[in-house]
Amino acid sequence: PPPILRTKAALRAAVLGWKRAGESIGVVPTMGALHAGHLSLVESAKAGCDRVIVTIFVNPKQFNNAADLENYPRTELADAEKLAPFAVDAIYVPGPDQIYPEGFATTVSVTGLTEGLCGSHRPGHFDGVTTVCAKLFLQTLADRAYFGEKDFQQLQVVTRMARDLDLLTEVIGCPTVREPDGLALSSRNVLLPPESRAVAPALNRVLRQVAERLSDGESLGPVRFQAEAALREAGFTKLEYIELRAADGLQTLEHPTRPARLLAAAWLGGVRLIDNIAVG
Ligand code: PAJ
Repeated sequence: PPPILRTKAALRAAVLGWKRAGESIGVVPTMGALHAGHLSLVESAKAGCDRVIVTIFVNPKQFNNAADLENYPRTELADAEKLAPFAVDAIYVPGPDQIYPEGFATTVSVTGLTEGLCGSHRPGHFDGVTTVCAKLFLQTLADRAYFGEKDFQQLQVVTRMARDLDLLTEVIGCPTVREPDGLALSSRNVLLPPESRAVAPALNRVLRQVAERLSDGESLGPVRFQAEAALREAGFTKLEYIELRAADGLQTLEHPTRPARLLAAAWLGGVRLIDNIAVG
């Protein structure tokens, strides 16, 4: 089974050995509760790098809701078992003090890309993400870091951070893995009771319908209005946003006049779901 490293000193010792041997290092940052979406990132990392580190850290700084942090699934043993067949080189599971030592006072913050979409609904969330990702990139000295398109805004924000700070880690985006009914895999899906699990695929279905109508030339305004009604009808309790953005830069669009992404967030009872698909 892959070694579980719990301190940055143990991680650094392993990483420096690989570096000295001229080996490339890939990192897959996660918060655990691993599913096939995470494992697809591990596969890409294995294909692209000599050494692969999976990190598991439920990052308190990126939770803007105490109940969400409390309820977040923690399944370290099962996670290690799921990773065993991939023969990763290390699982890094830092204690909180390895990431945020006493007196920690630094925030890495990206402007612009973090405003709107999830940024408007989860204050402080992206600052938490960029701060922990900067630390994980530096602690692992990774050449490449693998992120899912499932969290499309996060992928854009982390890519910009790495570029702006001249970090030596290249951010690689990977496609969203879905259930057969279209629901994007998410660690939070296990929190859905059966009635909600049956409703959840409507989010992707409605996004695909909206995308098709946008590709046919309709404008977002009226199409969105009907999509919101369809989601409420299906059983979604609260809609946060349905937006069309430029795939590169996230500028707001009314028509897919350039490569675009349709993104949505909505609540099913106490569980918040997000999804996004390419348009045009
Ligand atoms: P987490 O939600 O555990 O996701 C870890 C990585 O898996 C992210 O890059 C996410 O986009 C990707 N992922 C999740 N579901 C996916 C799916 N269905 N298909 C493909 N990839 C998927 O995102 C985070 O953790 C955290 O914010 C983190 C980056 C680890 C920083 O704490």
